Amino acid sequence: MTPRHLLTTADLDPSTLAGLLDRALELKRHPNRYLRALYERTLLMIFEAPSLRTRLSFETAMTQLHGHAINYYTLHSPWGAGKESIEDLARTVSRYCDAVTARLYDHGDLVRLARAAGVPVVNAMTDEDHPCQILADLLTIREYLGHAHDLRVAYVGDARNNVTYGWLRAAALTRSEITVACPAAEAYRPEARVLDEVRGACARNGGAVRVVHDPREAVAGAGVIYTDSWMSYRVAKEEEAERVAALTPFRVDEALMAAAPPGALFMHCLPAWRGHEVSAGVIDGPRSIVFDQAENRLHAQKALLLDLLGSAGGDDVRPPGGGRPGCQPRT
Ligand code: CP
Repeated sequence: MTPRHLLTTADLDPSTLAGLLDRALELKRHPNRYLRALYERTLLMIFEAPSLRTRLSFETAMTQLHGHAINYYTLHSPWGAGKESIEDLARTVSRYCDAVTARLYDHGDLVRLARAAGVPVVNAMTDEDHPCQILADLLTIREYLGHAHDLRVAYVGDARNNVTYGWLRAAALTRSEITVACPAAEAYRPEARVLDEVRGACARNGGAVRVVHDPREAVAGAGVIYTDSWMSYRVAKEEEAERVAALTPFRVDEALMAAAPPGALFMHCLPAWRGHEVSAGVIDGPRSIVFDQAENRLHAQKALLLDLLGSAGGDDVRPPGGGRPGCQPRT
C-alpha cells in the first residue's frame, strides 16, 4: 500500500484537519488513554538543520505513546557525506522504521525521500513549508477562539519563508483571510509561484490572501498577529545588518499591537529574537500565546503520528513482533 505523507500544508484537507485537531485535543486532555498506542513503532527523525521544538516534541510524542524515536543528523550519514542517494537512504530506513520525519533545507530532497520511502514521511521543515508548525498553530487557535476556520491572520515581517508559505496554504484549508505585511523588496516577499498556487486553492475552496507593505494595514481587523524570526537557520552572518534595516519597520511591538483589535492574539513559532522581529513586551505580554503553540507541537504531532500509522489509541496495540510490511521473511 502506498504510504500517506505530509509534505506541505496543502496535503491537508478540511476534514483531515478537523479530525487531527479533535484527536490532538483528546490526546492533550486524556494522555493516559493512549499510553501504548504506538507500542513497538519506531520513528526516524532526520535533521539537516538545527531544532529544539521539533526534535523534542516528536521524540517525547513517541516516548509517551510507548514507541521509540531515533534522532539522526545527516552530517553523520552517507547521504550527508555525498556517498549515497537519498532514494537508497529512503529504501533502507523504510526496512527499519515505521515513519520518517525529515528537516531538510531543500524541499526537492524531501519529495525524493518520500517518493522512494515505503513508510509515511513527514516534513519537519524545509525551505518550502512547515506543516507540523501550522497544525500546532491551528490547534492553539482552536483552543483560544473555539474554532480554526474563517480566521483573519496578519503575518508581519519576512515573508519569503516556510512558515509564511504554510500559513498562505492554510488560507484555503481553513477558509481564512491571510494578510502578509512585508518589505516590498523581492528578498522578503512571497514568491509569485506560491501566491499563484494558494490563490488557485482559495478560488476553489474559499479563503483569501493579500500582500501589503504597511504592517498597520495588515493588523487592522486581524484576530491573530503572527511573526517569525528574521534570521532563519540559513541566513548568513554577513546578511544580518541589511535584513535588520529592511525589516525593522515590520517589528511587532506594542504600537503595532495597539493598531490591532483589542482581543488579537500574538503568535510566533520560535525561536524568537526579542528586539528584532518582536519586542519583549509583546512576546512576554498577556496577548502572547507562543508557549501554548510550542506545547501544542507535541499534541498535534501525536495526533498526526496516530493518523499516519493507523492507530486508534489504547486498544489498538500491536503484538510484539510487529507486522510491518517490507520486513517479512521471504520464503
Ligand atoms: N518552531 C520550530 O520548528 O522550532 P525548532 O526549529 O526549534 O524545531
